[in-house]
This record gives sequence, C-alpha cells and structure tokens, in this order.
Amino acid sequence: MSAEPLEIHLEEQDLDRALREDVRVGLTASPKWLPPKWFYDARGSELFEEITRLPEYYPTRAERAALAAHADDVAAMTGAKTLIELGSGSSEKTRLLLDAFTRQGGLGTFVPLDVSVSALRSSTERIAAAYPGLRVRGIVGDFTRHLDRLPTGGRRLVAFLGGTIGNLLPAERAGFLAATRAALEAGDWLLVGTDLVKDPGVVVPAYDDAAGVTAEFNRNVLRVVNRELGADFDVEAFRHVAVWDPEREWIEMRLRAERPTRVRVAALGLDVAFAAGEELRTEVSAKFRPAGIAAELAGAGFVRQAFWTDPDGLFGVSLARAD
Ligand SMILES: C[S@@+](CC[C@H](N)C(=O)[O-])C[C@H]1O[C@@H](n2cnc3c(N)ncnc32)[C@H](O)[C@@H]1O
Repeated sequence: MSAEPLEIHLEEQDLDRALREDVRVGLTASPKWLPPKWFYDARGSELFEEITRLPEYYPTRAERAALAAHADDVAAMTGAKTLIELGSGSSEKTRLLLDAFTRQGGLGTFVPLDVSVSALRSSTERIAAAYPGLRVRGIVGDFTRHLDRLPTGGRRLVAFLGGTIGNLLPAERAGFLAATRAALEAGDWLLVGTDLVKDPGVVVPAYDDAAGVTAEFNRNVLRVVNRELGADFDVEAFRHVAVWDPEREWIEMRLRAERPTRVRVAALGLDVAFAAGEELRTEVSAKFRPAGIAAELAGAGFVRQAFWTDPDGLFGVSLARAD
C-alpha cells in the first residue's frame, strides 16, 4: 500500500509567518536565540540522520536498545489501534514498535507528524512499503500548535522519541504535556523517550562531535534564515558551541560570532549586530532523572506504568497511561 497524501497543517505561508516571528523575536532578544525547529529543512533533516550514526551520539543507539527489548511490552500493554508519532523524522526506531504491533496484530493506522515535509515524504513512503497492511497518514504539523488535530477514535498511543521533549524549555514542556493529555481520552497512552542525566564527559561530545557534523547541523539554521528571509548571515563567521549547564541539567547549543558581524534580514527590514564572542542559542537539550519525568507526566494527567532504559542506563523510555 502506498502512503496517503500528506495532511498539511502547516502551509508555506504559515511556516513563513512563524519563521519571521521567531527570527524577529529571537534576534532582537538579549541574549539572542532561535527555536530548534528551524534546523530541519531537507538538509537539516539529513544532517540529523547523520548525527544519529556518529560514534559520540549515544542517544539513538541507547533508545533503540531500550525499544528493542520492550517493544512487545508496549504493544501488549497498550493494545493500541493507532500509533501517532510526534517529531517523527525518519521513524527508523519506530519500526521496532511497528514490528511488535504487527506480531501482536490490531494496529490499523500509523500517523507520523513532523514539521519537515521532506523527512515525512520519505518516511511515509518507506513505512507504507514495509508494512503493507498498515494505513499510513503523515501530518505536516507543529507539535507545539497542532495537537488538537490528532486523529480520534480507537485506542491511541502517542510516541515522542529521540529525546525531542528535552528541546522544549520547562514551561513549554508542561504546556506540551498538558496539550497532549487534552488531545487524548482516558485509557490512551504516551510513550516518551528522554535522555538521562549523566557524566558531562559523555553528554558534551554527543553534541560536539569530532567530525563536525553537529556544527554543520547547528549552522544550518543560519542557512535556512538566509534562504527563506533573504538574510546575509556570514555562516562561516559563527562557531558551534555546546555547553553543559549543571544547574538546569541541559546542553545548550549556541553559535558564537568569531568576530564582530552584522546581519541584514531583508524580509523583516531588520539589521542585527553581533559583537565578537556574542552567542546565539539555537537548542536546549534537557537531560532527565527518572523521578522527575514521572512527576512531570503525573502533573499533566498521565500515570507512568513502565520505565525502561538501555543496559547502560543512558536513556529512558516511559510508558504512561492517560488517567
Ligand atoms: C531530534 S529529531 C528526532 C527525530 C526522531 N524522532 C528520532 O528519534 O530520531 C527532532 C524531530 O522533530 C521535528 N520537529 C522539531 N520541532 C518540531 C515541532 N515544533 N513540530 C513538529 N516537528 C518538530 C524535526 O523535524 C525532527 O524530525
């Protein structure tokens, strides 16, 4: 079966409007920042896939190990008819869940949702070809805005993998979990992958690899702004920086201006100056403690039923039921 045509909740003009707003707000703030969703044009999505294969990037391998060991438990415990995946990207690890649901029988529909049209197009075609009995309905949408449009009916499982929840700031995270709960019925399920707090000597290299792929991924956001908003960022003037914040227990990815530089964002009529050494925050990646995740889930109306990690305890996967 081929995938159904993508359901578009983010038209070109919505994306354009949202990018303009984020760039206007972020580049005029102090300190400057941009939200991580703008990394993911076609090139950014490819670079992220490359990151997942880097020797330093343990989260993908660790989450895959936890899912491989427990995908059958997820299928048996949830008995889901519909699997919705938020920020689905390539949906590669999700195949472990789809395989388990196939063994068990009963899953009818797979609904990946992502801002990246290119990632969705290829993932939906590949998944539909590999799972002929499955209805595959890709949604181009923003998981911070479009959760009220998720498909309804039948027991649902929402999967949010890759530690992407850690890219939301704490208040955004609480809002996201509340909106997810509001989109579900009691008895539906949430499966969420979270990277765990550990030695910064292990975490930092995962965000600052020797081959420089993460640096390219980080700078890609400047290329997106140049292309989409007619900006003239001198991309090579910015150095990739990954910093561990021990108090907030998160990694920050930043772009540091190596020399004084000015940027004109033509579409906004905006001129922005960067002093030498000034940084632009592009991503936060929070690391979690097992009890903290359970408490955040409970605060949003979920009851955690299982918590699994990889054998090295690097990454956690929580399965929670909507109360
Ligand atoms: C860190 S990657 C994880 C991809 C995949 N889930 C995995 O585990 O490898 C984050 C994914 O979320 C998507 N994304 C980021 N922000 C988003 C948003 N606000 N709404 C929808 N998708 C988003 C990106 O396009 C990307 O595919």
